[in-house]
Amino acid sequence: MFLLLALFTTVWSTSLWWHVRCEDPSLNVPACSSQFDYQWSVNSKGQSPCQVSGYLGSVCFGGAFSIPAVTPGEYYSLGSELQNNCTCSTVYYSALSACASCQGVSYTTWADFSTNCSTVFLSVYPQTIPSGTAVPHWAYQAITGSATFNTTLAQEAGVYPHLQQQ
Ligand SMILES: *[C@@H]1O[C@H](CO)[C@@H](O)[C@H](O)[C@H]1NC(C)=O
Ligand SMILES: *[C@@H]1O[C@H](CO)[C@@H](O)[C@H](O)[C@H]1NC(C)=O
Ligand SMILES: *[C@@H]1O[C@H](CO)[C@@H](O)[C@H](O)[C@H]1NC(C)=O
Repeated sequence: MFLLLALFTTVWSTSLWWHVRCEDPSLNVPACSSQFDYQWSVNSKGQSPCQVSGYLGSVCFGGAFSIPAVTPGEYYSLGSELQNNCTCSTVYYSALSACASCQGVSYTTWADFSTNCSTVFLSVYPQTIPSGTAVPHWAYQAITGSATFNTTLAQEAGVYPHLQQQ
């Protein structure tokens, strides 16, 4: 009886730990289209750049984040209500630009994207990265001023998870 209880307690606490530990944010992000070459941008966990962008954005919105799909002629911009320490980072901008790219849509320059930002973070994501994702190395490439995310340079940089310097 005691053994059974101990076993039960262990299983219960393990499953509780597992649940808490693996809890994912509530994300609503667009799918990438197989019409476009985006396999290079998929992270080490098999997540699309739209999913990675969702994870990065969710940290500043209590774990719930939506990214609408874009269609040709549209591009992602940052309204003042969306500017914060998650989105005003070139890491988020790069991931979101790759998310646009995998939908076959263009993206704006970093200078334009960050117009509404009160603080900008260059090649730094100043929050803790959620445990459910991994941010590819290409998202940390240097982007300053009028530069734009560059898919050629990103592909050269590669996907392996970047070890963020804190
Ligand atoms: C800045 O935010 C305002 C208000 O949300 C928005 O109308 C405007 O388009 C944004 N500017 C840029 C460059 O995204
Ligand atoms: C955002 O980052 C700036 C600069 O690092 C810091 O001063 C500010 O407290 C941060 N804001 C939040 C809400 O974390
Ligand atoms: C991206 O980078 C490559 C390699 O440096 C360069 O040849 C290309 O012109 C760049 N593309 C854009 C759109 O800036």
